[in-house]
Amino acid sequence: MSTQSLPGVTVVDHPLVQHKLTLMRDKETSTKTFRALMRETATLICYEVTRQLSMDEVEIQTPVAPTRAKVIAGKKLVFAPILRAGLGMAEGMLDLVPAARVAHIGLYRDPETLEAVEYYFKTPEDIADRLVIVVDPMLATGHTAVAAIDLLKKRGVRDLRFVCLLASVPGVETLRAAHPDVEIWTAAVDPQLNDHGYIVPGLGDAGDRTFGTR
Ligand code: URA
Repeated sequence: MSTQSLPGVTVVDHPLVQHKLTLMRDKETSTKTFRALMRETATLICYEVTRQLSMDEVEIQTPVAPTRAKVIAGKKLVFAPILRAGLGMAEGMLDLVPAARVAHIGLYRDPETLEAVEYYFKTPEDIADRLVIVVDPMLATGHTAVAAIDLLKKRGVRDLRFVCLLASVPGVETLRAAHPDVEIWTAAVDPQLNDHGYIVPGLGDAGDRTFGTR
């Protein structure tokens, strides 16, 4: 089950997701466990973000009889992880939708301005015809998410969703103000950011904790 908290935001309040998020927030959780939990929660959140995909009916033959049955309509969807922390979440989403395409978006936050700077952008050629789910575990200031979606819209993408593990209230406000058409799925929304742009209470640096770089 999912609930709406802020407009345009679905908080996935399933007990498994909330339990795993608490383990991820705990600073004593090891890199190995953190990475596994990131993948597992991403799978569960992916289940919710794909809940409203439209369906077609096809004719098939079971071993017993012909029948009409449902399949997901349209082209394969695209997961667009923002490097590098988005990679850990994308793995879990691909566990659930293995045929999805992947667009990699390289953006880093300038430590002085906290603005997003592009360094890599590689997408399927026909991305404009597909549903694109942008993936970044932390929606902090929202600048990176806004920049990623700006890039995708410049490529003609019209159908977009944003998935994160943890959002901040300012990040949600920034993203929704810039891109009101893009709905957000998250496990929780924390109230604030600190002076370095980290979510409080948050879980620290998701990239460092996933890859063990600090
Ligand atoms: N990025 C992170 O990894 N953590 C935060 O709290 C904010 C941005």
